[in-house]
Amino acid sequence: MVRITLLAAALSAIATQCSASIHPPHPYPASPFLGQIAEQMALPGVAWTANGTHHAKGYTTKSMEMTYAKGMREDCENVNLNMKLSTNFRSDVFGPGVKGYFYKCEKINPETNQYWFTITSGNSTHIDRLCSQKTPYPITYDSQHSTWWIDEPFTCTQQWRPLMGEGEHRGRH
Ligand SMILES: *[C@@H]1O[C@H](CO)[C@@H](O)[C@H](O)[C@H]1NC(C)=O
Ligand SMILES: *[C@@H]1O[C@H](CO)[C@@H](O)[C@H](O)[C@H]1NC(C)=O
Repeated sequence: MVRITLLAAALSAIATQCSASIHPPHPYPASPFLGQIAEQMALPGVAWTANGTHHAKGYTTKSMEMTYAKGMREDCENVNLNMKLSTNFRSDVFGPGVKGYFYKCEKINPETNQYWFTITSGNSTHIDRLCSQKTPYPITYDSQHSTWWIDEPFTCTQQWRPLMGEGEHRGRH
């Protein structure tokens, strides 16, 4: 099960589609909410969107006995250098159609990375579930970093309806 596929494949697929908005990759986009990218990540005008921060913990094994510092560090560095796009983010939890964009990472304690995200879907239920603190995320394996990950609930700072104007949003709920 791939937690988030970074990935050269996804990146180049999307880069081909919208070279203007994500190319070249930049570690710290000027605006955390990149409307252009969000738009390209879903059908224009149809996407429900949330942004915010998220914590994840990496382990060497599925039994979560040992924190995997190397895998966590490499994933964080990777996000900061290349950003990360997932075209079917946590499909085990949401089903298909959720697009995740992770653009910044910080190690906030020895066991935890914090990520900044923008996530979109054409289905508002996905975004409501994403932003619920009650949605469980089963442990998942990331073969790129040989790491077992626990995704903690996502904290949405803002949510947007499909756009008629970028200003329209529901705020936190
Ligand atoms: C979410 O987007 C708003 C509007 O662009 C921005 O002010 C805020 O910093 C973003 N929050 C996060 C955590 O990315
Ligand atoms: C939206 O997602 C929910 C939950 O995954 C699903 O039950 C529903 O059928 C989806 N709606 C549409 C229109 O795809």
